[in-house]
Amino acid sequence: MSIIKQLEQLGIKAQTDIKQADSGDVLEKLRVGLLGKKGALTSILRGLKELSVEEKREVGGLANRLKGTIEESIATKREALSGGSGGSTIDYTLPGKPHAHGHRHLVTLVMDEFISIFQRMGFEIADGPEIETDHYNFGALNFPDDHPARDEHDTFYVDGGLLLRTHTSNVQIREFEKRTPPVKIIAPGRVFRNESVNARSFCVFHQVEGFLVDENVTFGDLKGALEAFCYEYFEEGVNLRFRPSFFPFTEPSAEVDVQCFLCSGKGCTLCKYEGWLEILGCGMIDPEVFRSVGYDSEKYTGYAFGVGIERMALLKYRINDIRLLYENDARFIRQFR
Ligand code: PHE
Repeated sequence: MSIIKQLEQLGIKAQTDIKQADSGDVLEKLRVGLLGKKGALTSILRGLKELSVEEKREVGGLANRLKGTIEESIATKREALSGGSGGSTIDYTLPGKPHAHGHRHLVTLVMDEFISIFQRMGFEIADGPEIETDHYNFGALNFPDDHPARDEHDTFYVDGGLLLRTHTSNVQIREFEKRTPPVKIIAPGRVFRNESVNARSFCVFHQVEGFLVDENVTFGDLKGALEAFCYEYFEEGVNLRFRPSFFPFTEPSAEVDVQCFLCSGKGCTLCKYEGWLEILGCGMIDPEVFRSVGYDSEKYTGYAFGVGIERMALLKYRINDIRLLYENDARFIRQFR
């Protein structure tokens, strides 16, 4: 075959190969194979020495043009492969990747639900600091200095004589100081207790504090409000039990239990064979609290309660370990939207 013919065929084959190259690597191999020192073009041109001067000139010119065309084709193809303007490597027919949507955490959902129920019942919303003084967390709430109830709260103390609030009851005092009765408020928020972490308790949790002060407020009003709230929240009949208790800032005080939903009160591991699960503390506001904020305790009475959000979330959604709420395992969290 004549050299000219060989060059022509090399040109045709080179174009097909370049077109089919599907990566930069393949293209580079092609380039070396065609134009490199040991490449196809060089080896064809080895036959040049047998030709006459005239023929050499003709073949040489042809070979140069061929080399140029091949180089150009390779450059164009390289650009296309790298996604440049020369061509697109995006496959528009691939199915799209859906965006992962975030959503509110179960604790927030329950908190929001509480807020919405109490708002419908006519409560205003208030907020208070998480880093608090002893006065607002304990003193003004009638905790005597050496009272064991302080120890029960397992307080985290921070620098400057401050502490992390152990309950949302601090907001009672802060709001009473700002207002005159009637007062009807809930205060949702985060609280901290230096307790050992287990299935039932965590060192950080949330509460909703509620308090109402007016003339002629009775324990019956408190019971009515809490029952209404529980019926709304659990969306089904629940049995509540008011059990006498003690808090320094309420008198009388009670703790409220719901009948265990797992065993219907018969007794099981969840309720520790009690048949009941504690959900909140409450009572009639102690006149000592009114005295510390300058309210006339002869004229006004009031009730207060504090509900644990996590505990209520566990009950409604049948979750058996509070720690699941704080491990941020998406497989768990995603179940509650
Ligand atoms: N603050 C109390 C607690 O955290 C709950 C409570 C609030 C009790 C209001 C009575 C009145 O345990």
